[in-house]
Amino acid sequence: MGPLAQPTPSAGSTATDHRQGRDRSPDPAARLEMTGISVSFGGVTALSDVSLVVEPGQVHGLIGPNGAGKTTLFNVACGLVRPSAGEMTWRGSAVRKLRPHQLAGLGISRTLQGVGLFAGMTVLENVMVGAHRHARAGFASALLALPRSDSDERELRARAAAALADLGASRYADRYPGGLPYPVQKRVALARALVADPDLLLLDEPASGLAEDEMHELGELIRTLSGRMSVLLVEHHMDLVMRVCDQITVLDSGRQISAGTPAEVQADPAVTEAYLGDDVDVEADAAELSAAGEGGRHRD
Ligand SMILES: Nc1ncnc2c1ncn2[C@@H]1O[C@H](COP(=O)(O)OP(=O)(O)OP(=O)(O)O)[C@@H](O)[C@H]1O
Ligand SMILES: [Mg+2]
Repeated sequence: MGPLAQPTPSAGSTATDHRQGRDRSPDPAARLEMTGISVSFGGVTALSDVSLVVEPGQVHGLIGPNGAGKTTLFNVACGLVRPSAGEMTWRGSAVRKLRPHQLAGLGISRTLQGVGLFAGMTVLENVMVGAHRHARAGFASALLALPRSDSDERELRARAAAALADLGASRYADRYPGGLPYPVQKRVALARALVADPDLLLLDEPASGLAEDEMHELGELIRTLSGRMSVLLVEHHMDLVMRVCDQITVLDSGRQISAGTPAEVQADPAVTEAYLGDDVDVEADAAELSAAGEGGRHRD
């Protein structure tokens, strides 16, 4: 793959045109603000006074070495973790005691780290669960969330099928997720998040386990989506992050160590230092970070 193009925020407008009735500009109110968020698990402080704003229609990256607190902050945004301090505002209203099943009603969708599909449902049914306004996290409640009337069911089915088609996964509609390659499962999980046509999409490591070309496609897709929704993206793959994000927040050991545009973050010595101090997949990440700064070379 050649040097990475830098798509502009408007680059996705043609790609969204074919989406049935879903071509729209981002809602200017679709702003997520997290202020002074702290989380502790038992005695361990996982996050300390972290703040970020996902602006309407922008892709906001959340990066940092393993254990930095990215998933924890992400889980606060989706109501899976209750912060011990801090505030969250969505669409200008304070969100308190958020529960995961309220997300859909708020116009928020998420994919979790890993895949998290229901093994006992077909791919199409999995995506249909995402389309339901009151979809819940558990398998039993997911079953309950499936439509009752035939016309509801037809409409949901059609929307789920369209979401799968958008992600090039139509041919797997009747398969069960367990037997499918990991990248396909990730596409299905993304289709399930997108089918509700959210105003805010929360993605935790959507590129993990993807090959280079799939990652490139994912980047294009995220850029396209940002034309019509706000995205919070947790991701380790630096070239992807640098390519698709408008703004980036960097965490290390539960603290915010840097924030700004991709160029600003890349130029911040605190960021490189944090990555070099970590001993897991950090050397690769740090190399990728500097490679991304040199014109977006890919890691092999
Ligand atoms: N449920 C939990 N109970 C106790 N400690 C936790 C829990 N979840 C996370 N932690 C701890 O909180 C810290 C932040 O973890 P978190 O999963 O948010 O990091 P991360 O940045 O997402 O890491 P990774 O890149 O590996 O996904 C870590 O020290 C982790 O061990
Ligand atoms: Mg994580």
